[in-house]
Amino acid sequence: MNISSQISDSEPPSPLDTEIETRKAEHLRVCLEEDVEFRQVTSGFEGYRFTHCCLPELDYDDINLATHFLGKSLKAPILISSMTGGTEFARLVNTRLATVAQRYGLAMGVGSQRIIVEQPSLAPTFAVRSCAPDILLLANIGAVQLNYGYGLEECLRVVELLEADALILHLNPLQECVQSRGDKNFKELLPKIAQLCEELPVPVVVKEVGNGISSPVAQRLIAAGVAAIDVAGAGGTSWAKVESQRAKDHKQRRLGQTFADWGLPTAECLRSIRAVVPEIPLIASGGLKNGLDIAKAIALGGDLAGLARPFLEAAATSEAALDEFTDILIAELETALFCTGNSDLASLKSSGMLQPIT
Ligand SMILES: Cc1cc2nc3c(=O)[nH]c(=O)nc-3n(C[C@H](O)[C@H](O)[C@H](O)COP(=O)(O)O)c2cc1C
Repeated sequence: MNISSQISDSEPPSPLDTEIETRKAEHLRVCLEEDVEFRQVTSGFEGYRFTHCCLPELDYDDINLATHFLGKSLKAPILISSMTGGTEFARLVNTRLATVAQRYGLAMGVGSQRIIVEQPSLAPTFAVRSCAPDILLLANIGAVQLNYGYGLEECLRVVELLEADALILHLNPLQECVQSRGDKNFKELLPKIAQLCEELPVPVVVKEVGNGISSPVAQRLIAAGVAAIDVAGAGGTSWAKVESQRAKDHKQRRLGQTFADWGLPTAECLRSIRAVVPEIPLIASGGLKNGLDIAKAIALGGDLAGLARPFLEAAATSEAALDEFTDILIAELETALFCTGNSDLASLKSSGMLQPIT
């Protein structure tokens, strides 16, 4: 898909162009036009299979995907993962994503809002609440910014500007290493995350960006007071590859190639975190492609399942393509429940019907 023309049509060069704005436009372009998938590492879901039940004793129409997360009702356990904002094309993508999230009762995150702390005039490119009044909507900022002058005030501002229900802090040490002039001071972040959890009036969620969260780190984050964790594991979009593709100098390009397959596969993160913290609200994301992956993620202990680039590809094509993609995701998830004889997510989770392939 060639989106360069779409981006440049909707984005005449403006004096407001900044380094972050250019980066945001490039992230969209690279993610839509280049090979940014992990090479050999996979999400791990292909290593599991559901036991087929040929006698489900259910009416398909009675299948109920409804759930609750962070105090909000969802019609299906699906999160449109944090992606974008800050450019005109991003505004179009965010609007389409929010419209579909509202229609299907899904949750949605926006991309890092640091750009609107620096350039408040770009806030409308994130402002999706009016087209999604009922959804669980998640603000987003890099946790490392807490070491670069950000604190409660900036976090409150991005939550309020978005009218968000919660704030996601993303942890992205590898991405910062591969990005030219990345922010690499991750020292003593945990106490700052803990303080934010205490002071912010909305829940704080912590996610990775596609390299995964291990169970020891998850335990430290939970002890610090985070309300939920999104594992954002390896196997889908490789941010080392994304940053490598857009790097101007050889060193950064090479770093990204070397670390293209770095990280903890999503299925492994889910299993290991659930083994030690059975109660924490958990989002499964990183490399999920379809509704069967979502069903496996839920059976492995996820409460919601997040997809980023698959939603972006559909949204960049058209509103109709995005609608169709979402409709298919839900049909695939329902079919997995039906053919395992489960009428809802709680019974899918406790069914024990997902087995590792030996
Ligand atoms: C174009 C694009 C931009 C992204 N920007 C952000 C971001 O600003 N903040 C964030 O937490 N994650 C960001 N992500 C990471 C995703 O939320 C997700 O964790 C990652 O892409 C893995 O999911 P996937 O394999 O389904 O793409 C971005 C992903 C994409 C594709």
